[in-house]
Amino acid sequence: MNLSIKNMAISPSPTLAIDSKFKEMKANGVDVVGFGAGEPDFDTPENIKNAAIEAIKEGFTRYTPASGTLELKKAVAEKFKNDNGLAYEPSQIVVSNGAKHSLVNAFSAILNPGDEVIIPAPFWVSYPEMVKMADGTPKFIYTTEEDNFKFSISQLKEAITDKTKALILNSPSNPTGMVYTKEELKAIADVCVENNIYVISDEIYEKLIYEGEHVSIASFNEKIYDLTITINGMSKSYAMTGWRIGFAAANPQIAKIMANIQSHAASNPNSIAQKAALAGLTGPQDNIDAMVKVFKERRDYMVERINNIDGVSCIKPNGAFYVMMNIKALYGKELYGQVIDSADKFAELFLEHAKVAVVPGTGFGADGYVRWSYATSKENIKEGLDRLEKFLNN
Ligand SMILES: Cc1ncc(COP(=O)(O)O)c(C=O)c1O
Repeated sequence: MNLSIKNMAISPSPTLAIDSKFKEMKANGVDVVGFGAGEPDFDTPENIKNAAIEAIKEGFTRYTPASGTLELKKAVAEKFKNDNGLAYEPSQIVVSNGAKHSLVNAFSAILNPGDEVIIPAPFWVSYPEMVKMADGTPKFIYTTEEDNFKFSISQLKEAITDKTKALILNSPSNPTGMVYTKEELKAIADVCVENNIYVISDEIYEKLIYEGEHVSIASFNEKIYDLTITINGMSKSYAMTGWRIGFAAANPQIAKIMANIQSHAASNPNSIAQKAALAGLTGPQDNIDAMVKVFKERRDYMVERINNIDGVSCIKPNGAFYVMMNIKALYGKELYGQVIDSADKFAELFLEHAKVAVVPGTGFGADGYVRWSYATSKENIKEGLDRLEKFLNN
């Protein structure tokens, strides 16, 4: 039987694979420390949980409008206005089952076969696969650590062809934690407007910034507003990864196509989680500040320790909760009888011999690096780095 050639070529998420391997080892009683997960280790705030309990008690357990309830879409529009200076009508908002789902809807809404989508590398593992799932062709721009993992305007211009349909922007970035400045974003916006290129702006880490400020690219002028699909959600800022609420905002035509796709593919996002998200967006925001403070301390500790260990190094990320550790100096060296020749090999040996799970950069388009998530306790971070030191001294 012939199965879908396009979809058989879609690879599984390497970050989820590492995380499930870590969880399996842990369940089997292995003393393993995990740095693969891309989720806050904090609990969902009480007011959000209570709103969900209330929703169940009140019987708010039926289908809602496919693109989300009007009250939640109004709250999302308010969020965009207050946080990002973006004016969207509720009809321009589509609430989905996580930002991942919003992104899939966005690519499905704008791409035709052969359309090229520019993806700056290192990239979040799902972008290329999502583009391919929507019949698009990923076109990578490779950034370097020397340039703080940011692409230049000339790199962007060089990557543009007559098939270019969109650019993916992810600031703060997973996996590098880099944050584009207002000036950099304005220059990117100008190129996109000039060349009539859509921008998929994934702003899921917007609240997790330690230096600098978050700017939404759609906020510069009418033209870039019209070309941008702004993606955000509850997972990272509100410690709500399992609740699965994300949202997108776009010009009315794109929003309508996204809502139509979703109405057939998924109906509405979970009704109870929508009530919880409403409480998150409209309730007190102090949990976020507390979380940011803790993440910043952990980041500082991790960066300092890594840069004091021979053979590895990293630059300081300004946002999100990841550190990209450079392991290129280890290539060609022997550890536990095996030659380190790739990030995959390093991660495999590190897990096998030190029982520490990190994600090889290969899946992010960045061999020579492994990604540590510091969304885990300070004790775990200390233990993981102690084990790294011992591992390298083998
Ligand atoms: C850059 C980026 N975008 C989107 C998502 C997906 O978020 P959600 O859990 O809301 O689907 C993630 C999750 O890891 C992410 O890192």
